[in-house]
Amino acid sequence: MTADLTTRYLGLELAGPVVASAGPLTGTLDGLRALEDAGAAAVVLPSLFEEDVIEEELRLADLLDDGEGFAEFASAPLSEAAEGYVMGPERHVRLVKRAKEALGIPVIASVNATGTGGWERYAALLVEAGADAIELNMYAVAADAQVPAAEVEAQKLDVVSAVRAAVGVPFAVKLSPFYTSVAHFAAAVVSRGADGLVLFNRFYAPDIDLGSLTVQPALTLSESDDLRLPLRWLGILRSQLPGTSLAATSGVHTGADVLKALLVGADVACTTSSVLRRGPGNVTRMLAEVREWLEANEYDSVRQLQGSMSAASVPDPAGFERAQYRAIVTTLGR
Ligand SMILES: Cc1cc2nc3c(=O)[nH]c(=O)nc-3n(C[C@H](O)[C@H](O)[C@H](O)COP(=O)(O)O)c2cc1C
Repeated sequence: MTADLTTRYLGLELAGPVVASAGPLTGTLDGLRALEDAGAAAVVLPSLFEEDVIEEELRLADLLDDGEGFAEFASAPLSEAAEGYVMGPERHVRLVKRAKEALGIPVIASVNATGTGGWERYAALLVEAGADAIELNMYAVAADAQVPAAEVEAQKLDVVSAVRAAVGVPFAVKLSPFYTSVAHFAAAVVSRGADGLVLFNRFYAPDIDLGSLTVQPALTLSESDDLRLPLRWLGILRSQLPGTSLAATSGVHTGADVLKALLVGADVACTTSSVLRRGPGNVTRMLAEVREWLEANEYDSVRQLQGSMSAASVPDPAGFERAQYRAIVTTLGR
């Protein structure tokens, strides 16, 4: 008997547990089609970044004001002028529409806004374009020494409430691991109406170029080891947030990584780095490995496996917490 790989995430019935998370491949129709063909059960489109929208709108306004060289362009109605020159939120709206036309799998649109109002406005726009669900990419570095943690958290929670009020489709919040109490903040996000959590956003730390003495934003793709942080928190949160969809992101490269994420309680495992490094076909490989392991270990389905090794299900939940640290430093450090 072949194992049943279906799962449920954000109220969506998915054919399998691997989702293509936001990245360059989910930003083009060719990439999206290739990911679907390879077995991705849903796709998350690249985030609509509010800063980009503002920058692009300013550039378009400059172009329209720019006299002679752009006279013809500037005299055309905006919608016509913008044909083939798609800017601002329209670029993302168009990608959602095209992805919905081209794909049979659910399309999740992502928003990363800045000020109040942007999050819910853009989320509603993407839902109107046909997005099946929304992901809020709450990537921000709280760098102001005058702003206390409680205020940072309160602002984010207000965003969650505002988006809940603005959209009728399910939405997930992609969290950072940098909270004093990840568990408390995660529960607060859910209490404000989020349907799911994506653990965790990868923060790209800067590097210093010693030749030019400049700060370089450095993007390194993940390795399987990066999955351990999401594994810990998925395991800890699974039983504390029953009914909340949980997605693993960061370090999902192999079938074994997918299985580990499911065992601790994820509903889906998301991947970006692995398909950038090895191509969309890596999704097919991961799914084959998952199926093979399930069958070899006499599991009928992904659902049977899900959460069976969460902190609430294992005999020694301390393994997810401090005891792991003590055991490691005492055995390896001596
Ligand atoms: C080139 C690149 C672009 C990305 N763009 C986005 C994005 O637009 N929105 C977002 O939420 N995450 C974005 N991510 C993060 C991924 O969706 C993913 O969460 C992260 O890379 C960790 O997963 P991985 O280990 O499978 O790469 C991007 C990652 C990469 C490498």
